[in-house]
Amino acid sequence: SKTILTGIKPTGLIHLGNYIGAIKPALELAKIEGYKAAYFVADYHGLTKIHNAEEFRHLSYGIAATWLALGLDPEKLTFYRQSDVPEIFELNWILSCFTSKGLMNRAHAYKAIVDSNKKLEKDIDFGVNMGLFNYPILMAADILMFKTEVVPVGKDQVQHVEITRDIAESFNNIYGETFLLPEYKIQAETAVLPGLDGRKMSKSYHNTIPLFEEPKKLQKLINKIITDSLPPEAPKDPDTSPIFMLYKEFASNTEVEKMKEQYLQGIGWGDAKKELFNVMNSFIEEPREKYHELMSSPDKIDTILREGAEKARAISSPFLKEIKRKIGFNV
Ligand code: TYM
Repeated sequence: SKTILTGIKPTGLIHLGNYIGAIKPALELAKIEGYKAAYFVADYHGLTKIHNAEEFRHLSYGIAATWLALGLDPEKLTFYRQSDVPEIFELNWILSCFTSKGLMNRAHAYKAIVDSNKKLEKDIDFGVNMGLFNYPILMAADILMFKTEVVPVGKDQVQHVEITRDIAESFNNIYGETFLLPEYKIQAETAVLPGLDGRKMSKSYHNTIPLFEEPKKLQKLINKIITDSLPPEAPKDPDTSPIFMLYKEFASNTEVEKMKEQYLQGIGWGDAKKELFNVMNSFIEEPREKYHELMSSPDKIDTILREGAEKARAISSPFLKEIKRKIGFNV
């Protein structure tokens, strides 16, 4: 069977980009016969940004509660907290000794900060901690530790999977076939879900719609999504509209077909937004309630994650030993 693996870092509330780009496809893949899924809270990745203990704890539970509220079944797949699997961090160091610094210099996330610092005439590395710089290596360790074949992610993570393949090859070239080379899997249509302002929906752009937002606020946020200024009666192109893109993710097939017709005949953006709110809110109602229930009993979440970590370690522990022997440790 094939291993599918993906993680989310606790640096903010789960937003629609995370849900549509990663969680929804990942939960669907997990149902397919022959796939073994491993999904996790990438808390040590979150530590590159969040330096407030209370906030960090809350956000980590939030990621776990979201997956569970959306129907992740911890009996059927492996669901854990990255920090509960120490083998990942040993592998992180090992891999870092096979990763050229130049490869990290070229990583998009780091380069974006450097470019922005240059523009502001600051030191190029202003605000960059070593965790952030090494981020792709830890992600490679996450993926390679479990012989992952498929990584469902949004487009912004594609380069990280490619870097993972590079690192794995550097190691394999010296010590022989050890790591599997992973493939990424992106949803073509929603690989980049736009946020309120039309740029990629992202915690760092403050343009997100949290998945479990309360109805009133959700309605308000939906109303803020920017649209073109065509008059209500003008035909609209559903394929380029972010409102329609979202509608599709929450409505049934018949509803989607009907809505498409309405767009082509001309629907006002106000009405299109109302319809979007309705399908989204009725989809979210139940999981949102479950989410709040789970958030009020973090012990339950801890138990689930600890059991998941045990399952994960049953794989990572012997594999790490094998790797260590290959590089010359006597374990
Ligand atoms: P993170 O926490 O930034 O995002 C989690 C997932 O959500 C996807 N995503 C989006 N997809 C479509 N449109 C958007 N606007 C959008 N915004 C976010 C991301 O692509 C991602 O799939 N480095 C990872 C976490 C991670 C990981 C891993 C993922 C750590 N180790 C191993 C896969 C495998 C991250 O920061 O995701």
